[in-house]
Amino acid sequence: MRKKLVAGNWKMHGSLRQNEALLQRLRAEAGALSCEVVVCPPFPYLAQAQALLEGSAVAWGAQSLSEFPQGAHTGEVSAGMLCDLGCRYVLVGHSERRSLYGESDSVVAGKFEAAVRAGLVPVLCVGETLSERESGVTGDVVRRQLDAVLDRVGVAGLASAVLAYEPVWAIGTGMTATPEQAQAVHALIRSHLAACGFEAASAIRILYGGSVKPQNAVELFGQPDVDGGLIGGAALVADDFLAICQAAN
Ligand code: PGA
Repeated sequence: MRKKLVAGNWKMHGSLRQNEALLQRLRAEAGALSCEVVVCPPFPYLAQAQALLEGSAVAWGAQSLSEFPQGAHTGEVSAGMLCDLGCRYVLVGHSERRSLYGESDSVVAGKFEAAVRAGLVPVLCVGETLSERESGVTGDVVRRQLDAVLDRVGVAGLASAVLAYEPVWAIGTGMTATPEQAQAVHALIRSHLAACGFEAASAIRILYGGSVKPQNAVELFGQPDVDGGLIGGAALVADDFLAICQAAN
């Protein structure tokens, strides 16, 4: 049985004051949930997350990392630094990183490898754009994104990972994939990993992300291959995020 996981991707939102209220609330209520709960605030707030969440049922992680361990990479943050701040998770290959910051499949693979080497749990995001879906190449796109990582780390490198299927057209748009659309791609991901020789394909968790709300979470999380969610906008509102976590219970 795969334990459901709900991760909040705060993107570039928050302030010390706003975060405090949200984190305190999650800390107080997450213990009663049966799913795993993770928050991914911006880098400057990871220390605050650590201070407020240590010893609670909520884990924290970052939204990205450098593929390099250290050196002359101004503005970058290494996997080791995230470990220093108690992070357990890190998002890798979010579509905004790919499209707005030019992260290629090979850069994403490098970041994934850096995360695994440091003992972080990478949450590898994959997904197609609207035009890719409309041209019927969703499967090809998702397999290509997975293969780039598999070519780098092999199936063994996936052992600790979490995957997230995030159709780009559903992120922040209010246009959610239907439960059937999500299930179809989740099943495709799982069977592709099995076909590549990944023996734990039936055990790896695959989250759905893209306009998950309290109103659609139960149905999405009820699909056989959907193991929870990666939540953007709704992760900033305690009531909504907690309701989504409840839906994963
Ligand atoms: P959204 O974002 O829930 O606001 O669509 C999801 C994500 O970007 O991970």
